[in-house]
Amino acid sequence: MRVQVAIVGAGPSGLLLGQLLQRAGIDALIIERRSAEYVLGRIRAGVLEQGTVDLLGRAGVGERVAREGLVHDGFDVLFGGQRHRVNLSALTGRHVVVYGQTEVTRDLMDARLSAGASTIYDAADVSVHDFDADHPRVRFRVDGAAHEVACDFIAGCDGFHGVCRQSVPADALRQFERVYPFGWLGVLSDTPPVSHELIYVNSPRGFALCSMRSPTRSRYYVQCSLSENVDEWPDSRFWTELKARLDPATAGGLVTGPSIEKSIAPLRSFVAEPMRFGRLFLAGDAAHIVPPTGAKGLNLAASDVHYLSSALVEFYQSGSRAGLDAYSARALARVWQAERFSWWMTHLLHELPEGGAFSARVQRAELEYLVASQAARTALAENYVGLPY
Ligand code: APR
Ligand code: PHB
Repeated sequence: MRVQVAIVGAGPSGLLLGQLLQRAGIDALIIERRSAEYVLGRIRAGVLEQGTVDLLGRAGVGERVAREGLVHDGFDVLFGGQRHRVNLSALTGRHVVVYGQTEVTRDLMDARLSAGASTIYDAADVSVHDFDADHPRVRFRVDGAAHEVACDFIAGCDGFHGVCRQSVPADALRQFERVYPFGWLGVLSDTPPVSHELIYVNSPRGFALCSMRSPTRSRYYVQCSLSENVDEWPDSRFWTELKARLDPATAGGLVTGPSIEKSIAPLRSFVAEPMRFGRLFLAGDAAHIVPPTGAKGLNLAASDVHYLSSALVEFYQSGSRAGLDAYSARALARVWQAERFSWWMTHLLHELPEGGAFSARVQRAELEYLVASQAARTALAENYVGLPY
C-alpha cells in the first residue's frame, strides 16, 4: 500500500492534518492504535483561540463550533476572596470560544467519514521506518495481520506516549522537561456552570478552575497532590473542596450534581527539538506538552498542523521544500511562547509546595500587579487569546 502522507495518531492533530490534506487533494492515511470510541471518550480541554476556530473553518468543520461554541469575552481571576475580571475583548479585540476537544474530534471524524477518507483504528504494534531516507514506511498489525504502508512523509501525531518521537535516534533530539509537584482532579457534571465565564482560582487550599462545556454542562478542577487517588474522592468530597476554594458568594451559587467523569491529570511542561527528522514531522502532544492552566494544548496542536499542512500543500503544489524546511523553527517559536505563558500561569495560580513563603509573597504581588496594571492584564490577555499566525 502507498500513500503520500502517513499520519500516526487520530487525536485532534492527526485528524485535523488529515482533513486539511484531504481538502487539498493530498492522499493521507491515518493509523490509530485505539478505537474511535476510545478516542472520543477522552475528556480534554475546551478553550479554542480564534485562530484555531478559523483553522477549523478552513478545514471544513467550522459549522457546529460556530453554532454551539460559546464566545467568551473574558474570564475571572479569584484571589484573596475577590473576583477580578480580565476583559479579553477590551484588552485585545479578540475572544476565545469554549467548545470541548471531544466535539472538535467528533466533527473531524464525521468529516473524514463523509469524505470517504480512510482511518485505520485498533492498529497494533505501529512502527515507523526509514524516515531518514527517501522512502519511509509505517508498519502495523490489524487483527493479527501485518501491514506496511510506503509514503513520502510521516506525520507523528501520536501524542506524548506515541512511537514516532521515540523512534528518533536519541542524539538527534533535545528534550526539555518540567514536571510539577501537583496534579488536577477534574469533574464533569450535567449542572449549569457557576458563572457564564471561566473562573481561575488562587486560594490558600490550592488552585481551582470553574469551566464549562455548555450552558448545562460544567467542568471543574481542583489542584491535588500527585499521591491522590481518584477513588478517595467521592462527589461530595470534591464539591466541598471546590466550594472551600471559592469566595462565599460564588460557592453559594454553585449547583452540584453527580459527576459523569472524574480523573486526575499530572501537570507537565515538555518540548522536543527539533520537530522534524528527515521525512518524519512531529505535531501536537508528540512534540510538546503544556500544563493546562493556559488552555494552550489543543491550540498548539492546531498551530503545528497549520504550519505542517501549509508546508505539505506547498510541496505537492509547487515542489518547493521551503515550508517543510522551515516547519520545525516556525512551530517551535510558537510552542515556546505557549510554554512560557503556561508555565507562568501555573506559577501565578497554584499553591507551590516547594516554593516556600517567599514564593507565596511574590505570587500575591504578581496577582495584585495584574489588578493594578492594565499593561499586565493586557500581556495576560494577549497570550490567552493567542497571537495571530
Ligand atoms: N500508534 C498509533 N497511534 C498512537 C500511538 C501509536 N503507537 N500512540 C498513541 N497513538 C494515538 C493515541 O491513541 C491518540 O489517539 O495518537 C493519538 C494522539 O492524540 P492526543 O494525545 O490527543 O494528541 P494530539 O492529537 O497531538 O492532540 C493534542 O490533546 O492532550 C491534549 O492538550 C492536548 O489538547 C491537546 C491535544
Ligand atoms: C477545561 O474546560 O477543561 C479547561 C478550561 C481552561 C483551562 C483548562 C481546562 O485553562
